[in-house]
Amino acid sequence: MRKYRHVLSLSLCILILVSLFSSLASANTFTAFEDWAADYDTYKNDSRQIALSPGSDESEMGFAWLSSPLDLNPAFKYSSDKNLKNAKRAEVATSLTPIGQLSNKVNLKGLKKGSVYYYSYTIEGVWSEAYSFKTGAGDNFKALLVADSQIGRSGDERDDEVLCRDSFGWNNTLEVALGSFPDTDFILSAGDQVESAYSNDQYNLFFAPATLRSIPVAAALGNHDFYFPLYKYRFNNPNEFEGELIESPAGSGFWFTRGQALFIVIDSNIPFPLRQEKLIEDAVKANPNALWRIVMMHHSIYGAYGGEARTDNLWRFYAPIFDRTEIDLVLSGHDHAHCRTLPIKGGKVVDYGQGTVYLSANSSSGSKFGREPAETPWYAAGCTQPKAACFSLLGFEEGKITINSYRADSMERIDEELVLEKTAPSPELKQLTPFERFLESIFTFLMVMKASIKV
Ligand SMILES: [Fe+2]
Ligand SMILES: [Fe+2]
Repeated sequence: MRKYRHVLSLSLCILILVSLFSSLASANTFTAFEDWAADYDTYKNDSRQIALSPGSDESEMGFAWLSSPLDLNPAFKYSSDKNLKNAKRAEVATSLTPIGQLSNKVNLKGLKKGSVYYYSYTIEGVWSEAYSFKTGAGDNFKALLVADSQIGRSGDERDDEVLCRDSFGWNNTLEVALGSFPDTDFILSAGDQVESAYSNDQYNLFFAPATLRSIPVAAALGNHDFYFPLYKYRFNNPNEFEGELIESPAGSGFWFTRGQALFIVIDSNIPFPLRQEKLIEDAVKANPNALWRIVMMHHSIYGAYGGEARTDNLWRFYAPIFDRTEIDLVLSGHDHAHCRTLPIKGGKVVDYGQGTVYLSANSSSGSKFGREPAETPWYAAGCTQPKAACFSLLGFEEGKITINSYRADSMERIDEELVLEKTAPSPELKQLTPFERFLESIFTFLMVMKASIKV
């Protein structure tokens, strides 16, 4: 009997040691800088890495990749079988980019909710390995908020050391965030993905992280992305707003839904926000039952460095629009500093549920950090500059969004947890008549002129 007990204790000890070692091993699977640097040239020169974009809802997924102009027959297949048995072919739409490469796009529709799919695409006629992605399951999902990965910002962007360091930082943040929250459904990137909108190398490095073969990215146009059209060839956004009036060279906004949430991604670069207002209205009208109205835009109007104190005056344009359209949450970047506000409506702090919460994310790669906020703005709930690459995780459950923000080097929280709760969708929007819209434009124009003269 004693012998039996000894054998049992020894087995238990071995089991504990094995599980301890395996958990340590799995916690330590991040790519080391030396390994990233060893493959850097491949990452920088490879435009063929495929990118996923969220579809209009859980039943769709978008894909985009570049190929040589001699690659005449790009193909894509997918299946629910990991060996791609009985794979279906999807139609590939091809267009010529300004850099001479082809942009190939695929839109999958009719996917089953909460399912894993496998896919492969051709690179110069050869099928890639099979990658997987999962579709959203419903009301419960997680989204990762990042901003200003801005590959090439930490120094001279022509310097390979700079690009290598920034892209390593970006990859590391994704590995830490997605390693900590492996059930994340998609990534929200609040703009400035690259330092220079015309640099295909920088886009190659943005898309280099292996995790991006399986997780879609919804990206806003930053002031470093909007002025050259590469963005629109490298992302395949759903429900793109076919521009009225002025449109950025890289495209315009789009929207999609997940569970109870409507995400509206607007372009805050063209200082003529009324067309962005139209996009918000159209998106809300198309999704009247969405419980949450969430906007993502690059510029933070209530960020770490003061709303009204800002000289760009963007808050004058956008705050009244968000008030009128009853946006629950606005996600931004641009300041390269973390800032979460109390709910704001009509230029005042109001109770939760009565106004818009603004959340600006710090740099996700560490390529540039804004200065320490000099004083706390009147609307601040948590504004900080931790001088470390950061990300926020948005957890969605029925009637609830839980937001936590972390520094990627230590997984320490940089802000308190915020829980937003809501039981019913906001009331239907009152559509403005063309005359009311005209009056609004004049009023906005005069208000901005007045502010500009004062500044
Ligand atoms: Fe920016
Ligand atoms: Fe930036």
